[in-house]
Amino acid sequence: MNSKFENELRVKRVSVRKRSRDGKSSCLTPVKKKTCSPRHIREAGTYKIQLHHQDIEWREKNETTELAPDMQDKECHSDDDLFGDYDSLANESSFLAKLDDVEHNFAPACSSPYLETVKHRYANNGKAVAEVRNLEAHSDVKVKFPATEDFTVLKTVNCRDDTKPCHVGNTDSILISDLMDDFFDDLPSSQRILQQENETVTKQTSSEQSGPLNPFRGETFSVKEDEDLTGHSLNSVTHLAEPALNRRRSLKDHLKSTMTGNARAQSPQVFRAKQQKDAVVTKEINLAVKTVESTSDVDLGPFFGLPSKVKELIQKHRGIKDLYEWQRTCLTLESVQQRKNLIYSLPTSGGKTLVAEMLILRELLCRKKDALFILPYVAIVQEKVRGLASFGLELDFIIEEYAGSKGKYPPIKRRLKNSLFIATIEKGHSLVNSLIEANRLESVGLIVVDELHMLGEGSRGAILEITLAKVLFVSKTTQIIGMSATLNNVGDLQKFLKAENYSSDFRPVQLKEYVKLSDCIYEVDCKEEDCFKFSRPLSFKYSSNMKKMDPDHLIALVTEVIPMHSCLMFCPTKKNCENVAGMICKYLNKCFIQHREKEKTDLLDEIRSAGNGSICSVLKRTIPFGIAYHHSGLTNDERKLIEEAYSAGVLCLLTCTSTLAAGVNLPARRVILRSPYVATEFLKRNQYKQMVGRAGRAGIDTSGESILIIQEKDKLLAKALVSKPLENCYSNLIHDNRKGLQSLILSLIGLNISRTPAGIHEFLSCTLFSVQQEHLSSEKSLWDLTMEAVSFLTEKGLIMSTAGSHGDAVLEVTKLGRATYKGSIDLPYCDVLYSDLKRGLEGLVLDSILHLVYLVTPYDMVAHCKPDWMIYFRQFTQLTAVEQNIASMVGVPESYIAKKASGQSLKKGVDSLAVNRFYLSFVLLALLKETNVWVVADKFNLARGFVQSLLASSSAFCSCVVHFTEELEEFWAYRALFIELTKRLTYCVKAELIPLMEVAGILEARAKQLYVAGYKTLAHLANADPNLLTKTIQNMSKRQANQIVASAKMLLTEKAEALQEEVDELLTFPSDLPS
Ligand SMILES: Nc1ncnc2c1ncn2[C@@H]1O[C@H](COP(=O)(O)OP(=O)(O)OP(=O)(O)O)[C@@H](O)[C@H]1O
Ligand SMILES: [Mg+2]
Repeated sequence: MNSKFENELRVKRVSVRKRSRDGKSSCLTPVKKKTCSPRHIREAGTYKIQLHHQDIEWREKNETTELAPDMQDKECHSDDDLFGDYDSLANESSFLAKLDDVEHNFAPACSSPYLETVKHRYANNGKAVAEVRNLEAHSDVKVKFPATEDFTVLKTVNCRDDTKPCHVGNTDSILISDLMDDFFDDLPSSQRILQQENETVTKQTSSEQSGPLNPFRGETFSVKEDEDLTGHSLNSVTHLAEPALNRRRSLKDHLKSTMTGNARAQSPQVFRAKQQKDAVVTKEINLAVKTVESTSDVDLGPFFGLPSKVKELIQKHRGIKDLYEWQRTCLTLESVQQRKNLIYSLPTSGGKTLVAEMLILRELLCRKKDALFILPYVAIVQEKVRGLASFGLELDFIIEEYAGSKGKYPPIKRRLKNSLFIATIEKGHSLVNSLIEANRLESVGLIVVDELHMLGEGSRGAILEITLAKVLFVSKTTQIIGMSATLNNVGDLQKFLKAENYSSDFRPVQLKEYVKLSDCIYEVDCKEEDCFKFSRPLSFKYSSNMKKMDPDHLIALVTEVIPMHSCLMFCPTKKNCENVAGMICKYLNKCFIQHREKEKTDLLDEIRSAGNGSICSVLKRTIPFGIAYHHSGLTNDERKLIEEAYSAGVLCLLTCTSTLAAGVNLPARRVILRSPYVATEFLKRNQYKQMVGRAGRAGIDTSGESILIIQEKDKLLAKALVSKPLENCYSNLIHDNRKGLQSLILSLIGLNISRTPAGIHEFLSCTLFSVQQEHLSSEKSLWDLTMEAVSFLTEKGLIMSTAGSHGDAVLEVTKLGRATYKGSIDLPYCDVLYSDLKRGLEGLVLDSILHLVYLVTPYDMVAHCKPDWMIYFRQFTQLTAVEQNIASMVGVPESYIAKKASGQSLKKGVDSLAVNRFYLSFVLLALLKETNVWVVADKFNLARGFVQSLLASSSAFCSCVVHFTEELEEFWAYRALFIELTKRLTYCVKAELIPLMEVAGILEARAKQLYVAGYKTLAHLANADPNLLTKTIQNMSKRQANQIVASAKMLLTEKAEALQEEVDELLTFPSDLPS
């Protein structure tokens, strides 16, 4: 660092939020502890399956009863799942906001371990203690930056001082042992038995392993005096400037020590063992780095090129002891060693994720590059962020979530740690765009795409294709790996990605497919002439009434497996899921209620409290029988609770829509397809495969079975369904009026990737679309399509032609074009959005939030909700005069709504997009006022799941509009307003819960519980003791507690390090300073 900056730098904070300090309590201790009745403290072990029951016993007891009249006239409505929790947008927070956030999180804790470490650091520098005290006492902070060497000294001193409690490392050991004790109880059922076996083996061999050969035994390893005790040998980072490195590492180490420390006094011996373990990890990483660098065919790393610590973590957190044979083969493929692009396909539950994660770890740890993991849904991204947080903490990389309105564009540049970006398809695209713009795409060494067949799914498929095509074109060093269970034309995809292919039909559990026709079960056997081989008659004793109500014998089929085993029943519509669940319960013997009764009662309590006292009447009736429905109409909280209870075996039957088949890992002993239709469409082979693939739980079942229920009329189609090859995956660039192609071209010009028709054509020749062009658009050439898209964009005012530097014509984006691609605005809506915002400027009403909310109500949600005119009118009349004014400003006349409410049919005169969109704004307004999804859903007679998706997509759209307005000077005034509104829409909870809900996977109900128990800030959660959490928070398993604490630590680390990076950036001496 330049000497000018070395000694005295004064950092003046703009503002410091004063917070109460809760007396002298440390941030290691929660402020308040909730007192819990013994009933609420779940003992470890309550979720264990009671294997002594026999299914036969249950079947015998199963008697028939009459169907209640209210069930008899219930109809099944066709109502497909329309609202997947995918993303559409982006958000970023300013440096000051971040500073404020971290300040907020650290402020209550001048006595926190983090600040303690800062104090020590300056104290060791011998001069700045007073200034640190200043920091505690004043809002204007003067911080002296000490000479860099001192940090190293301090770090060593701190870590070696055995007389002080040191928080590094020992917690990890305690965590490990805690996990080994209680982990089984909280594992998904699919892992429990396997884990128990592992434990037995571990116990048996522990004495052998404690011998001198065990590298993790403290006494066998001596750490050199000058070695970095936190496990980072200097060799591993020699490419960095030494002084800066030391200072940075010191900060990092202190941060890590704080993060990994919990409310316990730690024994020096355990700590020493941890240091030694870390030293081993570092050595192994170095070895692995060398292995990778030499690109040798032979894998020299201890664990597939990774440190053994990874193996340990996989066993600890996943319960996986050994890799499957195919996983070993795949990881050692020559193409993988040579970092060629790769597509691998295996049946569902084949264990694909683990391979992807190990390749990601190699990239982060050995190649020291960032990695991007693209997953299909927000909930899956959050789950993954949580699941990998402990890996990040222990292996020293950062995990950054890009989903919903989370994610920073471009991401923070980190010099010492690598980042794993876990993103949805949409956010992954925005991230790649921002990296291209910042000329940093090469910093991402690896991109992994889960569910690669999503390339073939509508506009989302187009976005995925666009992302991958850009990466292929712009960065030659970024490796792409895609995985999928359902790929037929893998050759096309290989051509597009220039990838090798690996496929296997390995399934850990054998799958037996059956169909049920009339009263008989047939085995699917494609060698048989008509594919169906008679297997057995179905045994059932039905009353005549029951025959009428359950003509497909669903009850007979499920009671062959439940409650001792799990069962999934896929239904064609959401309504049908609810009806079927209700109908089955009507006929089940009451003895089903006794099975795990207490846990089911607890589950109902939790669902009720998640709904602020409201509970769905269907769930209330079905859960006591161990049955629930699962579709997008559930709130996120309900869905999570139901999934967890199903995984733990508390619920034994889920009636669900096809959405459950995509991504969520909820296997079952038996999968029943209630009909071969999704809504009114006959099933596709890919969908069928995804659904039946859920059958069989690895580690528990020896085989899984699927039963497809068909009627005589569908027999031929069903034969084709079980025997034909999978559908091909086709490019969607020209799907929906060539929307994808047009927005691709717009961004190519905007990002300066290609700016002439010839250049664009060259780029398009590298897409999946070009590989499949003959099939997809035989009548038009790629050149014709390019030129037509260029004309379309020009006519729309998004691009124009200008003279290039050599006098040749080049294309350029207009301001509107730039705003459109930067905001990821759908092309069909960009001009409507522009004119809505422009009109808004003429008389923006800020006396109510309604006007702003209207402006960010997503256009694409309008098609999913028709107004109930009576409700519309009632709500309209309750608006204030100012709000009614907004209605007329945006083109929604009261008279129109009144006439509609009175049943008159009106043909002309209004902009129906505006009218219907305004209705959705009412829903959002009510949510922002009410914050209770149930009350709002009730008021508007909408499904609560829909209300929640509307909110999620509005917050995402609002952050898009922020980026859109940023590019257009005339909209400067909107920016600040929409940034605030994004925050309000993102959480839509009381402000006090927001810091907790920032942690991946903490939803409102959990945040409330934590808040009441005294965990009020991110720092509280990051420093919480998982054991205490388990005891004080109702229904929190040990595994969940560990994951929450790990995710909070990761988020805090990420935030603090991001700030540190920004500080370093600010203080870097400019290399181009005029002299
Ligand atoms: N080597 C292994 N030993 C035991 N269990 C494993 C192993 N590898 C993976 N699993 C477990 O198998 C289950 C399914 O794995 P995973 O979710 O990766 O499957 P997948 O191939 O991605 O399936 P899908 O196509 O359904 O997404 C998980 O519970 C995972 O922990
Ligand atoms: Mg998978």
